[in-house]
Amino acid sequence: MKQSARQVRADGSSIGFVPTMGALHAGHLSLVRSALAECHPVIASIFVNPTQFGPHEDFQKYPRTMEADSQQLEDAGVDYLFAPDALEMYPRGFRTWVNVEGLSECLEGRVRQGHFRGVTTVVLKLLEIVQPQKAYFGRKDAQQGRIIQQMARDLHLDSEIVVCPIVREPDGLAMSSRNVYLNSDERRAATILFRALDGARASIAHGERDALRIKAAIREMLRAEPLAEPEYAELVDAETLESVTRLRRACLALVAVRIGRVRLIDNLLIEERDGAFLTKL
Ligand code: PAF
Repeated sequence: MKQSARQVRADGSSIGFVPTMGALHAGHLSLVRSALAECHPVIASIFVNPTQFGPHEDFQKYPRTMEADSQQLEDAGVDYLFAPDALEMYPRGFRTWVNVEGLSECLEGRVRQGHFRGVTTVVLKLLEIVQPQKAYFGRKDAQQGRIIQQMARDLHLDSEIVVCPIVREPDGLAMSSRNVYLNSDERRAATILFRALDGARASIAHGERDALRIKAAIREMLRAEPLAEPEYAELVDAETLESVTRLRRACLALVAVRIGRVRLIDNLLIEERDGAFLTKL
């Protein structure tokens, strides 16, 4: 991969890169479309990264659908697929880790300790191998996107980190490779994340600016769904990921909920423009 990418760069081409863990869905394909619109060639990777899973998480049973994935990527127009194995990425004696301090310990990092250390380490390795002009990530994992942008800034990486909109099912559920674990009752219940955030969006549109009240309303809606076990519902500054008490600059309302054995996350981006707050689900 390093050799092919080097050759491509020598031709003056600008590489677009879409890193994934496979089990592809429409959200991944929208990243591919964004990459194809801005770069040539487009390289995608599929690597179920063991170091970002905790000891009791779903690494072993994470859906692996390599044949269907590579066909989808080819049909979508991806030029190269990089699918290393774990020993190539983490050879015996591997000792170097990347940790973005101050952004990795809160929210997802509190529930999934060590998760972001695994993500940033593998993403830096992938970026170093491919050296793309632009790398594309989905905003469903908003904290991950923010951490990777910080890493790219702090380590003077040449790649631009592009965070793309969330892709949703018609009923609002954010696309995720883990949605396949939901049974039909759980699948119905899973729309509660979207509904709770949509409620927040409506109250902001009606002028609500008090973050504590917005957060309380989200929590109340999540609690009202009998199949949902809320883990967190927070309203944070989009840059620092610290809690806010009033809406300001760019903020994120972030939720994590357990439904059956499945953990789901979602978020609402709230941006300030000329004194008005615009929301993106
Ligand atoms: O978002 C994902 O699929 C993964 O965390 C990533 C960025 C491919 C790193 O393994």
